[in-house]
Amino acid sequence: MILPIVAYGDPVLRKVCKKIDADFPKLDLLIANMRETMYNASGVGLAAPQIGKPIRLFIIDASPFGEDEDFSEEDREILKNFNRVFINAQILTEEGDEWVFNEGCLSIPDIREDVFRQEKVHIEYEDENFEKHTEVLTGIAARVFQHEYDHIEGILFTDKLSTLKKRILKKKLENISKGKINADYRMRFPKLKNKK
Ligand code: NI
Repeated sequence: MILPIVAYGDPVLRKVCKKIDADFPKLDLLIANMRETMYNASGVGLAAPQIGKPIRLFIIDASPFGEDEDFSEEDREILKNFNRVFINAQILTEEGDEWVFNEGCLSIPDIREDVFRQEKVHIEYEDENFEKHTEVLTGIAARVFQHEYDHIEGILFTDKLSTLKKRILKKKLENISKGKINADYRMRFPKLKNKK
């Protein structure tokens, strides 16, 4: 089932999300619905708060980037198979130089901005079977992970922009929260009047 994606301005996007365990009700269904929702919106990642659930769960399928000639062949090979469920993820360390990438977010349609992040992350997470993994991600895989990880900490990529950029985007962000936007997927807007 395709779920509505929560738009910028909804308080759920600002929550530090809670850990879950294997007893979480209907987790398989939730993950399947999140996958369907993400693919329907042509996203490469989706975090649980974006569908209204403040829990430490996000999914990534960066395989579309595997076809993108903007990335090196080495990166593309990794991205082709970068399709996972991350539960209770933690960043152990971040290292390397900061590099810039033009990011977008399904909760913030029509806005893309350059964001600086470090190039390498050591992470720990559980998969959909609650098996623990420790891993090192670099480059664009690290980037997608960092963006989704921020979501479960209540952080959005627009928070990372300069004061000037934020000022320029203020009105546009306000409009998104009021539903004055045309996204080609289902959304839920916090400040939309005449809610259905
Ligand atoms: Ni996002």
